[in-house]
Amino acid sequence: MTATETAHPPAFWLRDNCPCGACRDPRNGQKLFQITDLPDDLAVGAVRDGVPAADGGPGREVLWEPDGHRSVYPDAWLAAHAPGAALGPPRAGDGRTEADKDLWAAADLRGRIPEAGWGAYIGDRRVRMRTLDSVARLGFVLLRGVPPRDRMVLDVARTFGFVRETNYGELFEVRVEADPNNLAFTGARITPHTDNPYRDPVPTLQLLHCLSNEARGGDSGLVDGFHAAALLREEDPDAFAVLTRVPVEFAFADARTELRAHRPLIDVDPLGRIREIRFNNRSIGTLHQTAAVVEEFYAAYRTFARLLLRPGLQLDFRLAPGDCVVFDNTRLLHARTAFAESGARHLQGAYADLDGLLSTLSVLRRGGDRS
Ligand code: OGA
Ligand code: ZN
Ligand code: ZN
Repeated sequence: MTATETAHPPAFWLRDNCPCGACRDPRNGQKLFQITDLPDDLAVGAVRDGVPAADGGPGREVLWEPDGHRSVYPDAWLAAHAPGAALGPPRAGDGRTEADKDLWAAADLRGRIPEAGWGAYIGDRRVRMRTLDSVARLGFVLLRGVPPRDRMVLDVARTFGFVRETNYGELFEVRVEADPNNLAFTGARITPHTDNPYRDPVPTLQLLHCLSNEARGGDSGLVDGFHAAALLREEDPDAFAVLTRVPVEFAFADARTELRAHRPLIDVDPLGRIREIRFNNRSIGTLHQTAAVVEEFYAAYRTFARLLLRPGLQLDFRLAPGDCVVFDNTRLLHARTAFAESGARHLQGAYADLDGLLSTLSVLRRGGDRS
């Protein structure tokens, strides 16, 4: 960092980040003032370098006009955070966009599907870190040898976060039902989709734990929706733009429930980076837009849908009893082939959220001990 960059960070930014005990509660780091408390004519007064800072290193002391407040900013903190004159390479994002992911097609994972044995995952902190990191970076992990017990999927979710209960319950049974309220509960093929796009917010993680899989068929598939969306952006930027722009109505209804959400198929962050995919041919509703928008939406939707089915994108595998796949439901699409309804196939599914998983991963990384 050059002297000119640190010389005058914008005054309100600098003051808003004052680390002193009057500005932040030393017990929790939370801010104690309102942004409106700062004087309109706030200005940096005297500045002195080489002053001992709270982190034990050298710091920069700032005396503020007109209120005489005193701040000491650790040099290391300023070097890491001070706004420069120009916007450099975009900082890594919030951990949720394509900027922080390893995008993949099936061949990229050949022979190296991210997986961990249940015993090692539970017993070894480094394995836990690697496992959760796979969910963060690749969008999924396959846990093997998870005891194929009723409700065990909830215990799996609780190793890294919190179960998201829904109208389907704490967990949902994926098996053939007599009067299914969802095609998942039949033997039908299910093409790549994200779950519950009719919810806002969507469950950001899904777990599917296999208790039995003796049916003919019923193989699993995963597609990296971020990769597919990035391909769409390359091959047909106009279609990509349409899918980021047009709110799509998703809906689910049964006797007790009526859910609805209006969101685009591809969500981007304010910098245009892919952040969330919603795609589900079963629950997409009626589009209410002008005829022109409807035309361009359907052209783009069909292009994206074909792309998602392109050979080579989907990773195919088969769940065996004791396997539990944990995946990012804002990024990966999941699928299964049709299966004979006479055969025994039983999965238990649950939803959870990425914020909890990423928090657990961060705490593990700082050496904490959530086991
Ligand atoms: C689901 C689903 C996949 C499977 O229940 O949402 O997609 O393998 N199931 O049965
Ligand atoms: Zn202060
Ligand atoms: Zn599903």
